[in-house]
Amino acid sequence: MSCRSQLASWQALQTSANKMKEIHLKDLFANDSTRFEQFSTQIPGVLFDYSKQLIDNNVVTQLISLAQECDIATWRDKMFSGEKINITEDRAVLHTALRNRNESSLVVDNENVSSVVNAELQKIKLFVNKVRSGQWLGYTGKAVKDVVSIGVGGSNLGPQMATEALKSYADDTLKVHYVSNVDGVQIASVLKEIDPETTLFVISSKTFTTSETMTNAKTAVAWFLESANDKQAIAKHFVAVSTNLEKTAAFGIADENVFTMWDWVGGRFSLWSAIGLPIALYLGFEAFEAVLDGAFEVDEHFKTAEFQENIPLLMALLSVWNTSFLGFDSQAILPYDQALHMLPAYLQQGEMESNGKHVNFAGNTVPYTTVPIIWGMTGINGQHAFYQCLHQGNVVVPADFIASIKPQINVGEHHDILLSNFFAQTEAMMMGVDAQQVRADLTAKGKTEAEITQLLNHKIHQGNRPTTSMLLDTVDAKTVGRLIALYEHKIFCQGIILAICSFDQWGVELGKGLASKIEAELLDDSVTHPHDSSTNGLMSYYKQRRAQ
Ligand code: F6P
Repeated sequence: MSCRSQLASWQALQTSANKMKEIHLKDLFANDSTRFEQFSTQIPGVLFDYSKQLIDNNVVTQLISLAQECDIATWRDKMFSGEKINITEDRAVLHTALRNRNESSLVVDNENVSSVVNAELQKIKLFVNKVRSGQWLGYTGKAVKDVVSIGVGGSNLGPQMATEALKSYADDTLKVHYVSNVDGVQIASVLKEIDPETTLFVISSKTFTTSETMTNAKTAVAWFLESANDKQAIAKHFVAVSTNLEKTAAFGIADENVFTMWDWVGGRFSLWSAIGLPIALYLGFEAFEAVLDGAFEVDEHFKTAEFQENIPLLMALLSVWNTSFLGFDSQAILPYDQALHMLPAYLQQGEMESNGKHVNFAGNTVPYTTVPIIWGMTGINGQHAFYQCLHQGNVVVPADFIASIKPQINVGEHHDILLSNFFAQTEAMMMGVDAQQVRADLTAKGKTEAEITQLLNHKIHQGNRPTTSMLLDTVDAKTVGRLIALYEHKIFCQGIILAICSFDQWGVELGKGLASKIEAELLDDSVTHPHDSSTNGLMSYYKQRRAQ
């Protein structure tokens, strides 16, 4: 396979990118009053407006041609049908099978995927209903009041982002807590809040070997046994989610208390599996099913929509256009909805652990920038943190603005004020304010010519900052499923277009391996270590002072 940059559509886009750098978005809008109609599309619950991106019809046509030349449709069908597109781990990529609500049969490696998924969903449903109804009793005969989810990365971010997004809908049956960081402060603060008699721990780890998770899990068991003082009691208070039954058994969790997942579910794509247990325990199984329903809707959209109306494909093409052609190295995720405050963190793993690579399918270094740095926070808070840079910095940061039409909770005029900022900021980033407008404004404020001369250039906003606006009906369970699935398929399309394997994560191995070695060295009092002078110096400094 030749390098993507050799494709005719890629080369046409490079020419277009050079031309687009000479154009200002405000002129594109001034010259064409139908941009919104041309460059926006809808699916149930979502309006997707990409008209404020640095594109015109020619660019969109060329981007669609690029998708066709990269054979997106064939790759999409390969993914849904269970072909092993995770080429370096020889695995299928079937997070879509976890939410295949029409239960169409799917067999992979002689295993009926649909039936094992549905069997696991039934197991989850029974367990969740037992816990939430008070039938699941702890070692002193009390019902569960607190759930502690122990996991990191994809075993944490999906559930925590979703329960944070939907906590307005939660009843007071259960509280949910998350422990992901191996920094003892986090688990200590959670253990202070809970009662061992009424707490259920969910240890989520696809491999059940992740050091941070295993450390936290061992600490939780030790804390629990200080009260229960009976290993038999562990079975009533600890369940696990993993593919590794050998390790869960060795840890002391009975097989019947292990919810399984499969190697064809990537960690960062796993909230639809039993990794999503905290969502179901906290909000009820019906809410968890609604999340699955929303994702399934988007799967169908992704499979059937024409490329020009295919939202996840358009999201991917815009990201490739901004990053690999226009040279914008980062992308901000700016939710104007407090419920989505963890979305940026969730997408950091989703996008950067999937596409933060530099070699293509054939293992050859690619000559183009692959993934943008994904970052962000709730937009309103960002306006008082980094919007100065977004408006007047000399780096351009394309941004996804996301808001909802109906708030989860209506408080006076708050939502209109929130949405006025949502609309204003993308307009300001697109239009900017030029010298003529600044001069007029300062004159109207009575500034002298000298004052105007001194201030003028400091107040110019270049504008021409590309953004996408997504308007959700409201942030409910189904919409959370839709939104996450849109980004999952965007990530998939981006990987195919960039010809990189989005589903392995070899880049996390080096750090993990070194940490394990250094952990052993920190337990050894000798002060010489086989590292560089900085690492040796830091370790010695730490070891000398930690005992003081
Ligand atoms: O960050 C590396 C990684 O392997 C992620 O892909 C994964 O979600 C996380 O660590 C946790 O892995 P596990 O679920 O196996 O504990």
